[in-house]
Amino acid sequence: MDSDKFIITGGKRLEGSVEISGAKNSALSIMAATLLTKDVCILRNIPHLTDVDTMIAVIRKLGIKVEWKEDNTLYIDSDYFNNYEAPYELVKKMRASILVMGPLLARLNKAKISLPGGCAIGARPVDFHIKGFETLGAQVEVEKGYIKAEVNKLRGGDIYLDFPSLGATENIMMAASLAEGVTKIENAAKDPEVVELGNFLIKMGAKIEGLGTDLIKINGVKKLNGVDYNIIPDRIEAGTYMIAAAITSGDILIEKIDPLLIKPLIVKLEEAGVKIKQEKDFIEVIGPNSINAVDIKTLPYPGFPTDIQPQFMALSCVAKGTSVITETVFENRFAHTGDLIRMGADIKVEGRSAIIKGVKKLSAAPVMASDLRGGAALILAGLVADGTTELSRIYHLDRGYVNLEKKLTALGADIHRVEE
Ligand code: EPZ
Repeated sequence: MDSDKFIITGGKRLEGSVEISGAKNSALSIMAATLLTKDVCILRNIPHLTDVDTMIAVIRKLGIKVEWKEDNTLYIDSDYFNNYEAPYELVKKMRASILVMGPLLARLNKAKISLPGGCAIGARPVDFHIKGFETLGAQVEVEKGYIKAEVNKLRGGDIYLDFPSLGATENIMMAASLAEGVTKIENAAKDPEVVELGNFLIKMGAKIEGLGTDLIKINGVKKLNGVDYNIIPDRIEAGTYMIAAAITSGDILIEKIDPLLIKPLIVKLEEAGVKIKQEKDFIEVIGPNSINAVDIKTLPYPGFPTDIQPQFMALSCVAKGTSVITETVFENRFAHTGDLIRMGADIKVEGRSAIIKGVKKLSAAPVMASDLRGGAALILAGLVADGTTELSRIYHLDRGYVNLEKKLTALGADIHRVEE
């Protein structure tokens, strides 16, 4: 329910092991990519999240059959479409709905997508997506809050992205997979989710080179086939639990995660005095009794991930010394500082930087999640604050964290959900 709250009582040291669920942002783009084939696709390790439910609703709106099979498996049959529109009431819930645009242009040569609109972390325009589709030959017009696009036949072209946009790289790569000729995406995003989408498309029969570099080359093919695919673990969920271990001086074993996916955080946590043991598919995080202040600058992958910035800020609030956190990816991703200050943090925001003076103790207060990762930051603060924190608007958290309170409780946290 939208009025649900989390009640968190601080002071517990977290210890034990946590299993990481499938990656939200990889699941969303791969679900969109299944529209590129008439065959059935089977997607495994799909996380039960409200963002996934929204993407299922968008795909069903297009007339496509989507069913949950045994626990975390989705069965998608994109043989038949009866619609090419992603409506406002769905897109406003989740901007990633725009990822169906590339597949719609490739399969039906037309698409009508509501403009996503901004959210708590910024205006988040989609001009790079539109520029990419126009380069592939589509006529695009934006009116009455909708993007309308039509094309006779997508043709390959050279696209330079002003910023290595994750979503634009994914959308263009999907459309280009069925275009005539070769498409080059320069200054492409290198995130693991982009690489995973590319691997999925290659398994479908696409011809793609350069995944994980800033130049991706796609040689269009006539047809793509259905595949059975396993979604990778969620590096941002993993990072959130790593910081939970650090902030509570705990000891948490993060299972089923490749440390390489979250290397920038490992480096920064070690600088902060956190002990990390890592093997090829697990990470153990042992939090010290006191955290050293470290500076963070978010950058496109492989830089420090913007989606971990709010959670790391919570850690900085109780570090010894002053930290500077600079957010270069989104223009307004400090909405969580207000509520951290309400909990006793000492933070000053100056433009794209936040200066955080570590304090000895945070104190519980009623606070509100502003967005998915900002909400996670407030939970982390609540885990160490004196007293009982009430966090409202936790529907933001249900978008991106599977069984959050259950996993934290299993680690020893005192947290429960109140359904108002
Ligand atoms: C993806 O969003 C993720 N979402 C975000 O995760 C993540 O924070 C972001 O990448 C950056 O890593 C999904 O994958 C579903 P971008 P996306 O395009 O694709 C600007 C979460 O918490 N931009 O890389 O929307 C944009 O405004 C979410 O799971 C344009 O100007 O991010 C931003 O400043 C939050 N024009 C920057 O680029 C465009 O056409 C990076 O955006 C597109 C983007």
